[in-house]
Amino acid sequence: MWQIGPIKIKSKAILAPMAGVTGHPFRVLCKAQGAGLVYTEFVSANGIIRENEKTLELMKFTESERPIGVQIFGETPEVLAQSAKYIEAVVKPDLIDLNFGCPVPKVTKKGAGSAILKDLPLMDEVARAVVEAVSIPVTAKIRSGWNNGCIVAPVAAAALQEAGIAALTLHPRTTKQLYTGEADWSLITETRKSISIPLIGNGDIRSAEDAKRMIDETNCDAVMIGRRALGNPWIFNEINDYLQTGELPTPVRLMDRIRLCHHHLLMEVEERGEYHATNYIKKHLSWYLKGFPGAAAYRKRLYRHMQFVDMEAEISQIKAELEANPDLANLAYREQGPLFPNVHASRDHY
Ligand SMILES: Cc1cc2nc3c(=O)[nH]c(=O)nc-3n(C[C@H](O)[C@H](O)[C@H](O)COP(=O)(O)O)c2cc1C
Repeated sequence: MWQIGPIKIKSKAILAPMAGVTGHPFRVLCKAQGAGLVYTEFVSANGIIRENEKTLELMKFTESERPIGVQIFGETPEVLAQSAKYIEAVVKPDLIDLNFGCPVPKVTKKGAGSAILKDLPLMDEVARAVVEAVSIPVTAKIRSGWNNGCIVAPVAAAALQEAGIAALTLHPRTTKQLYTGEADWSLITETRKSISIPLIGNGDIRSAEDAKRMIDETNCDAVMIGRRALGNPWIFNEINDYLQTGELPTPVRLMDRIRLCHHHLLMEVEERGEYHATNYIKKHLSWYLKGFPGAAAYRKRLYRHMQFVDMEAEISQIKAELEANPDLANLAYREQGPLFPNVHASRDHY
């Protein structure tokens, strides 16, 4: 158990905010598999104060997802503060997270996201304005800096703590790096020394062993999992078990993956309606179904459907085939290998 302000968090493994991915259904699945804390994807502070319908949709959540953070981005302190007030009063999450890490030009060219790391006085102003505007904890998520000549994480972290930020997440890549190269965990170690608030380490965790290594090496309080959770919500329980016992749970079987595909599809239908869910779920299905012999053929079978009824029938057909083939149904394997470096989610290129 660790905590952010008064919020008690049961697991050290938390789900990263991911645009186009971490909607309500996926958050529920990760929570059920042991994620200690989940976030919405980044939400525009401007959109919130204009009460844009689509923007407000992004912040809907259910009680089972608590503790949950709503992540906001923007460049104007007053707008961010006003949006935070709205969130606290209307949306009522457990915490608000400030996005100071988004590297997408559409966002950074306005001075929002990780562009703010080039203007630490503005970052300070934003953090203070939002902390003052609400009574729930405000956290922040940063990258290491703008580029190799501007690595600011330890200094920015100390300033954010001073401004009243309750916990910090660090993804130690620069904006210019996007997802290339490696996350420089030594910056997490360095940043740990500059603050006493909880520090969440993030970047390139591919396994429970990696999660433990990050905690041991950097002394961070918790780890945030992004890409390794795609198609793999089981990672959270793997990390929990490994941290507690040094043992990994049995890997999930192919049959469990297919069952989850079905369950996730139905949750998305509930969320977005049959038509949109059938298209939207395809990327998740391709993440669930990879890494075993014949995976491409299953993906192809599911990908071709445009109608919910057809896709559901195909999933049922695959389930029936697996039932008839216990060796395949019981095929169990753990997600490994490289993270998807080029995963781009919608709105549209985080
Ligand atoms: C598809 C995708 C969408 C993302 N969207 C967001 C976002 O909305 N807010 C944010 O702070 N980070 C976002 N990120 C960054 C992740 O939260 C995380 O910092 C990054 O993926 C590094 O962690 P990982 O190596 O575990 O994936 C996104 C990453 C991906 C891959």
